[in-house]
Amino acid sequence: MLVGPRIGKDPAFAPRVREIARALLDDAAREPVVDLAADLTTRYPLTVLCELLGVPLDEIDRAAGACRGVLSGDPAATGRAMATYGELAASALAPGRTGLAADLRDAVPDGTPTGTLHYLVFTLLFAGQLTTDPAAGFLLADALDGSGREVPADDLVRDVLRRHPPAPLSLWHFTTEEVELAGTTLAAGSPVLVDITGINATVTDGADLSFGARLTTRCGWRRSGQR
Ligand code: HEM
Repeated sequence: MLVGPRIGKDPAFAPRVREIARALLDDAAREPVVDLAADLTTRYPLTVLCELLGVPLDEIDRAAGACRGVLSGDPAATGRAMATYGELAASALAPGRTGLAADLRDAVPDGTPTGTLHYLVFTLLFAGQLTTDPAAGFLLADALDGSGREVPADDLVRDVLRRHPPAPLSLWHFTTEEVELAGTTLAAGSPVLVDITGINATVTDGADLSFGARLTTRCGWRRSGQR
């Protein structure tokens, strides 16, 4: 969604993503024992995300801590994590820094409060990490499952994302007009939550909703809050 066009626009970025993965794996290989699932699956996508957003890379440890803390279930840890996210956003928006956060600041209307900008950068970090972390974990588990299968990397990624979509349900959408879905008529304004995991598991015509593809244009519905 946001990352794809950025990589497409900047041909140097795709090799950079591979370089980040190699450097992290090299570091891991120097350790006597490594737990790739506990560390690499968080650190790798998070490093890519921070670099895209413009968060300085020496903040990765704090960013990884915030990602763990925000979902810990302990309100105090969640509060600390949210404060850290705010500081990471401020770092990405500091004068002279470049990246998606700075692009976003230039794109929002003049006078947008700093707190709103921090919140927007937080949502990119949170939505980006929350999805790519489990995706990397499932991919790693599948690649190292001991079956010795030779599957082209692109096919493996597509298959793993289809079977384990990181976002199992869509965001809330609302019908903009009366629409019939699988024999049920929904009035205009009805809330719709799309079962991405269920559809990926049962629809076999090649359709894949892992990224919520084309949800908003096909059936006359719009996302919550969208005008
Ligand atoms: C494996 C990677 C990812 C998957 C599978 C994924 C999947 C999804 C899905 C299914 C939705 C809901 C779409 C809808 O209901 O219409 C969504 C929304 C969103 N995602 Fe991702 N995503 C991924 C990576 C990312 C990354 C890296 C970022 C940020 C850099 C990101 C930012 C967002 C945002 C901001 C939204 C809300 C968009 C809106 O408000 O319409 N996602 N994503």
